[in-house]
Amino acid sequence: MSLNNAIQKLEKVGYLDIPTDHVDYISEINRLRKEKNAVILAHYYQRPEIQDIADFVGDSLALAQYAAKTDADMIVFAGVHFMAETAKIINPSKKVVLPDLKAGCSLAESAPADAFQKFKEAHPNHLVVSYVNTSAAIKALTDIVCTSSNAELIINSIPKDQPIIFAPDRNLGDWLNKKTGRNMLLWNGACMVHEAFAIDRILELKKENPDAEIIAHPESQSHLLKVSTYVGSTSGLLNYVKNSPNQKFIVATEAGILHQMQKENPDKILIPAPTADKSCNCSECAFMKLNTLQKLYLCMQYELPDVQIEENLRFKALKSIERMLEISETAQK
Ligand code: 13P
Ligand code: SF4
Repeated sequence: MSLNNAIQKLEKVGYLDIPTDHVDYISEINRLRKEKNAVILAHYYQRPEIQDIADFVGDSLALAQYAAKTDADMIVFAGVHFMAETAKIINPSKKVVLPDLKAGCSLAESAPADAFQKFKEAHPNHLVVSYVNTSAAIKALTDIVCTSSNAELIINSIPKDQPIIFAPDRNLGDWLNKKTGRNMLLWNGACMVHEAFAIDRILELKKENPDAEIIAHPESQSHLLKVSTYVGSTSGLLNYVKNSPNQKFIVATEAGILHQMQKENPDKILIPAPTADKSCNCSECAFMKLNTLQKLYLCMQYELPDVQIEENLRFKALKSIERMLEISETAQK
């Protein structure tokens, strides 16, 4: 079933209109988790209260690895659609529910499958490496999936003389080209949350806080990455702050990460990187923030919306994800 059809089906059921004012979400979520043998997985960009109730909080790679190994009957994915879809592709016998099916991803949407297929056909000697922030249809056209945690490792596992198409993030692709000395052909996609950072405001902040280090997610633009002392995935940024002797950081990624970062480093000063919009001093992913405790409770109670994927497509997409998991696991041993 397509994403739109599934949304329409849910809107007909109207389950989000069910009154829940009387519900104690935390105790009900805890009851349902036990009763249904469910596991709640949350990304670092989720709202603090969702991160706090999750069984596991992680970056895209760790969440996919957890989903591959869990023996829970139901995976409750507090993240965005491509993450829940990846879990379903890897572990199809599980019920995978997402609190809000409209939780998409601007980056995944920047690579429509039909246009990407034409691009791939125009470069037949290229191997395709795609970021996990893509639809199942793109993963089915991909040789190896990667996340920002393992992208460099994946690229370096490919022979130097093999031409590569990298999709969909042009900023991550450009950063990887510089790191690995490759000349990958880049799809022209981007994440609106990471492209929203305003370099002039960040440099002003740095002037006011000369003791702060700028750290950034590689989906950010190259002018920002150039002035950052560390560039890495969400888990990379968390590890960096934990292990650094420095006390102050300007953090250029989605602001949800600050919850976990501050919990791990109560005495450090964490300043979210600002965007051009002066009414807010950070960048938030509106898709990630669609998930609320109320929707988490409802999706566990009604086991809806559940992520469905057509078997033929699932099978094609699985190969590229499995390849990524194999390469990552071999390296982690
Ligand atoms: P990570 O893989 O670093 O968790 O990033 C996911 C994401 O969506 C970044 O915008
Ligand atoms: Fe997608 Fe960007 Fe949101 Fe990550 S932060 S889920 S890449 S829109």
